[in-house]
Amino acid sequence: MPNSEVVYLNGKYSPKHQTTLSILDRGFLFGDGVYELVPVYNKHIFYIENHLNRLKSSLELINIDPSTVDDDKFIKIIKSLIDQNGYINHYIYIHISRGVDKKRNHIYSKECEPTILIMGENYKPFDKATIELGKKAIIEEDYRWLKSNIKSTSLLANVLIKNKAYTDDAYEALLLRDEYLTEGSASNVFIVDKGVIKTPKLSNKLLPGITRKFLTDLIVQNNLDFEECDIPRNLLLSADEIFCSSSTNPVVPITQLDNNTISNTAGPVSMKLYQHAQQFIKDTYK
Ligand code: PDD
Repeated sequence: MPNSEVVYLNGKYSPKHQTTLSILDRGFLFGDGVYELVPVYNKHIFYIENHLNRLKSSLELINIDPSTVDDDKFIKIIKSLIDQNGYINHYIYIHISRGVDKKRNHIYSKECEPTILIMGENYKPFDKATIELGKKAIIEEDYRWLKSNIKSTSLLANVLIKNKAYTDDAYEALLLRDEYLTEGSASNVFIVDKGVIKTPKLSNKLLPGITRKFLTDLIVQNNLDFEECDIPRNLLLSADEIFCSSSTNPVVPITQLDNNTISNTAGPVSMKLYQHAQQFIKDTYK
């Protein structure tokens, strides 16, 4: 079926299913690029400044000029996509690769002009009943590279790990590097330990999630006990509650870890944060 959705590629708007790229694009050949996934709530762009700042930081970390991202221009394009496509609650995917090179070569040429793709993606977040029930997660070894703070489009390890979770009927894989929790294959991870919400400190081993930042803002505003700290395997296994955060689902309670049941339904602290997040979105993006 033809799809009339409009996307933005390198200065032009065109229908999603007719928009094509060169096979010499380094994003295609090497996964040489970075991306963002930005929620749109009631036509409003969520935490856009944070998303664009992280995008610029990712670009800088892979030696692409961060001034490729002009905030005002990008916001204008996103608003135009929202208007042209009639998005209300949706997601915007921004993808910047190093660009089209003369030939396939690990060494990039200086003349490469970054490829900029901005398009809508329609994910369906979990409904409240699903959140209340909670989800299963598995534990996997974090065998990804040591620059996981870059939101890189090279996602092969994340893809393999997420698919392992999927075949095990799990929503997510929680990753341990040297026996310490880093994050999920496509989310950040929080635990609740004796009433204290804990999450791993930011480092090169995990993505500085925008939802992680959103939740920590809510935690502070609501005076909840919170700590950023190391979380070894035994602390993860003994946690009273676990939840994952990402742009597609701000709070996903984990009620089963491998074959162990943590609780029959989502824990009280996870549900409280879920409600705070929903309320903030409702009140802010009227
Ligand atoms: N992924 N960690 C990883 C490895 C992720 O892929 C994501 C999100 C997060 C959470 O980041 P944020 O809160 O900024 O969405 C953490 C997105 C949703 C994706 O790849 O589509």
